[in-house]
Amino acid sequence: MKELGHVSLKRPVIVVNFKTYLESSGKEALALAKLCEAVAHETGASIIVAPPLPDLALIASSVNIPVYAQHADDVRPGNTTGHVTLENFRASGASGTLLNHSERRIKVAEIHDLIGLARSLHLATIVCTNNPGVSVACAAMGPDAVAVEPPELIGGDISVTTANPGIVSDTVRAIRSVRPEVAVLCGAGVKGRADVSKALELGSDGVLLASGVVKAKDKRAVLMDLVAGLR
Ligand code: G3P
Repeated sequence: MKELGHVSLKRPVIVVNFKTYLESSGKEALALAKLCEAVAHETGASIIVAPPLPDLALIASSVNIPVYAQHADDVRPGNTTGHVTLENFRASGASGTLLNHSERRIKVAEIHDLIGLARSLHLATIVCTNNPGVSVACAAMGPDAVAVEPPELIGGDISVTTANPGIVSDTVRAIRSVRPEVAVLCGAGVKGRADVSKALELGSDGVLLASGVVKAKDKRAVLMDLVAGLR
C-alpha cells in the first residue's frame, strides 16, 4: 500500500462515517471504533473512522487507527461559540476531516480555506462531492482525497458502483488527468465485498460508507466482508 499525502493515510482505504446514528454514538461509537481498529490490525486493511463529533476526542485517544472529523467550520478558535475548528480537532487527536459532506455542504471558498489550513496543521482532508465536475473542481484545491457520492443513493440499498458506475469511473478519469496525487473514493449504498471490489475495479482508491456498517446486526462480519473486497 502506498502512503497518501502528508499523513499516513493508506490506499486502498475504507472510511466508515458514523454520521449521527444512535447505533454509533456514545458507548456504541467507541465500541464500533474499536471493532474497526481490531479488523484493521487483524487484516492489515486501511480503515478510517469518522465518529460523531462529541465522541471524537475519546475515540482518538482510545484507538490506533486514523480518526477523522465529519465536518469542520471555517472559523478560528476563540470567540466562535458552537463551532468546530480544525485546530480543536488537532488538539483532540484527529488525523483529518471530511469536508462538504452531502449532509453538511459548505461554500467553495470555505473548502479552499479549510484544505489549506488542514495541510498546515498536518490534518488530511477528504472532500465529498456529487459528480465528476464538482470532483475535479475540489481536487484542484489539493485535498488528500475526493469522495464522490450521488446524494440520491445515500442510505439506500443499491451501491453507487451498481447504480451509477459511470460516475465513479468518470470522476477517477477526470481527477487523474489534473491531480493524479489526489485519491478518489466513492460512496453511497456500499454494503459489502462486491461493492468494494467493483469500486477498485472502476479505478477508485476505496470507499466511504455509513449505514452498511452502522445498521448491520453483525458489524464485525460486515467489516470483514468489506475488507475482503480490497484484495
Ligand atoms: O458518508 C457516507 C455516506 O454518505 C454514504 O452513506 O449510508 O449510503 O453508506 P451510506
